[in-house]
Amino acid sequence: MKKQESIIVMNKICKSFPLAVGGIQQVLFDITFTIKSGEFVSIMGPSGSGKSTCMNIIGALDSATSGTYELYNKDITTMSADDLATVRNEHIGFVFQNFNLLPKRTILDNVMLPLMYRGWVMHDRIERAREMLKLVNLENFETYFPTQLSGGMKQRVAIARALAGNPKLILADEPTGSLDSKMGNEILKFFEKLNHDMGITIVMITHEFEIARFSKRVIHIYDGHITYDGPVPKNESTLLESEKKHKK
Ligand SMILES: Nc1ncnc2c1ncn2[C@@H]1O[C@H](COP(=O)(O)OP(=O)(O)OP(=O)(O)O)[C@@H](O)[C@H]1O
Ligand SMILES: [Mg+2]
Repeated sequence: MKKQESIIVMNKICKSFPLAVGGIQQVLFDITFTIKSGEFVSIMGPSGSGKSTCMNIIGALDSATSGTYELYNKDITTMSADDLATVRNEHIGFVFQNFNLLPKRTILDNVMLPLMYRGWVMHDRIERAREMLKLVNLENFETYFPTQLSGGMKQRVAIARALAGNPKLILADEPTGSLDSKMGNEILKFFEKLNHDMGITIVMITHEFEIARFSKRVIHIYDGHITYDGPVPKNESTLLESEKKHKK
């Protein structure tokens, strides 16, 4: 079997933010984990535990206060802003809770846009965007505007946009957080397919265990600390117990 490459290697990552009232607030403490190519991982934890902060560092959208981070064998901690943008563009597709679509642009335009930043010519952009819309079963909606679509459809457009640049890694922060459970399940099944059929690595934040069940591994964060990292347990109680151990 092919040895899976480590694509995300975090070592003792700490993150602090300055407080408005002075001083600092430490949000992440010695976060250490490795994610290999082809994994489907959930980052779980209660509100305010540091999940999005961690995801922003994984996605090279924010930098750590200390510790080291390698993404696709490149040391992210010492990279310039321009180089970070290149790494993001080359490797990562982002999916957000609120879709982040441009409301005044058509669905096709929304999917094409990131390709413009990559310097693709118009003809190739249109062709690729159509291909991606077909992949998410929205090929008949290319002239629609985001407001004319349901939440689940909007998220599928956002996924088509994230996939347009052919990323090997999808980072999704609460991708089903704005959807009802039926539409949410549809998106999660699609993620399963991307992971299983196309080998795309997926890291997804959620605070719901039922959603984490679609993935294969859970990293549980509580109060800025990893309290569990392993296969999805049978019951959520295992994760809640891990929080208790940390509190002691
Ligand atoms: N840019 C920032 N400046 C200052 N504090 C921040 C910033 N971003 C996050 N924090 C603080 O860091 C802590 C963790 O926030 P984070 O957004 O990572 O939590 P989360 O686990 O994603 O929560 P949720 O489930 O509500 O999205 C919070 O106390 C938050 O106030
Ligand atoms: Mg968050």
